[in-house]
Amino acid sequence: MKIEIGKDFPHYFKSAYPEEFELFSHFEVAAGIPSALFAVTTWKGNGQPNVCFHAWSCFHGDKTAFFAVMGNLYQHTHTYTNIKRDRCFCINFLPISYYDRLVDTIRNNDVEADEFAAGQFTLSNARTIHAPVIQEAFINMECTLEDVRDLSGAGITAMVVGRVQHISVEKEYAQGYERRYGRDGFMMLVPAPQDLVTGEPGQSAIASVKIEMLD
Ligand SMILES: Cc1cc2nc3c(=O)[nH]c(=O)nc-3n(C[C@H](O)[C@H](O)[C@H](O)COP(=O)(O)O)c2cc1C
Repeated sequence: MKIEIGKDFPHYFKSAYPEEFELFSHFEVAAGIPSALFAVTTWKGNGQPNVCFHAWSCFHGDKTAFFAVMGNLYQHTHTYTNIKRDRCFCINFLPISYYDRLVDTIRNNDVEADEFAAGQFTLSNARTIHAPVIQEAFINMECTLEDVRDLSGAGITAMVVGRVQHISVEKEYAQGYERRYGRDGFMMLVPAPQDLVTGEPGQSAIASVKIEMLD
């Protein structure tokens, strides 16, 4: 038996906090699909470096190009403004041990704030684009802006597509599976899975990847 969830908000869904379903679709917590967590880095218009903790993305391409598709960037963020202005951004993958420092960059989010200092991150310059890079990340991915689309048309979020120009990978992560896919590797977001029977809210979880078998 399957539980059916339609476009209309299921009235038995309880929110975890008052504005939850002002911010997110009920489909998000109905499905609870995990995605990689990373930091997007850009320059603010005043020259301060910006860090944005981000999920909701995927990465793919064909033999001619590789794309970072950030499916849901809020239009009110500095990152959205910075990317539209400079037409580039860097994606930085950090392990779970950096979670609190990434949240510190959200707590210190003034336009005047140096968000690298807020998160105690070491700044270096990207090789191919005009963007700051988090040195502590095990992968840095430099992107130029390919496309911006407001998928819902509501002026709230946008899909931002970056064309990958360059990747830097920390040498200890260059071989095998252990570093990239354990606690030291990709950090994942599990978006608060709703109890679809009772409607009780779930809690978001932060996860790592466990390899089960090789293909
Ligand atoms: C775990 C986590 C995941 C997040 N994922 C996203 C996301 O995918 N898209 C988004 O727009 N904001 C996301 N945010 C919120 C942004 O990090 C937050 O709005 C940030 O302050 C934006 O920074 P900026 O204004 O400096 O660009 C996330 C926050 C957390 C804690």
